[in-house]
Amino acid sequence: MEQLIPVVVIKQIGDTERYMQALLHSGVNCAEITFRTDCAEQAIELAARQFPQMEIGAGTVINGDQARRALAAGAKFIVSPGLSEEVAFICAQKNIPYYPGCVTPTEIMKAISLGIHTVKFFPANVYGGLAAMKALSAPFPQIKFIPTGGVNRENLNEFLSWEKVAAVGGSFIMEEALKSWQK
Ligand code: 3PG
Repeated sequence: MEQLIPVVVIKQIGDTERYMQALLHSGVNCAEITFRTDCAEQAIELAARQFPQMEIGAGTVINGDQARRALAAGAKFIVSPGLSEEVAFICAQKNIPYYPGCVTPTEIMKAISLGIHTVKFFPANVYGGLAAMKALSAPFPQIKFIPTGGVNRENLNEFLSWEKVAAVGGSFIMEEALKSWQK
């Protein structure tokens, strides 16, 4: 897994190529394209086809229908803001990594029961950041976290320096990549 997972919102399909090129130019080889826009599915399909060197995944996947569409479009991983059992089952069937949002012991226990050992911790800044993840890690030493929400260039290394942080996610990665690409 890449250590930086850009949360990417594509509003117009025509932006897809430029966004992926900007990420590659910044040395980022993956993208979580969010199911928040009408063209998300099409953008995943286009990015997965035109940028086979990148790991293209789908984010903000909140139900089984979206998960199926994302996988058919070529998504290599699925991220949700919370935990969907339906999405977990679909991903398990296809052997695709699923990172559900989990911020409580109960949610983490549910993830473990579904065979998931890496969870998104979202919104990381609101649910207690690194201190909260460290406290959760005591009863759940097998769990790795992907903090997302409020992660930025300033606090990035603090998160990544803890061994239980598998990666960090954030929209700032896409924003920075676009800025440096436009220069
Ligand atoms: C997400 O969907 O994961 C968040 O919108 C990303 O949060 P950020 O914009 O604070 O990085």
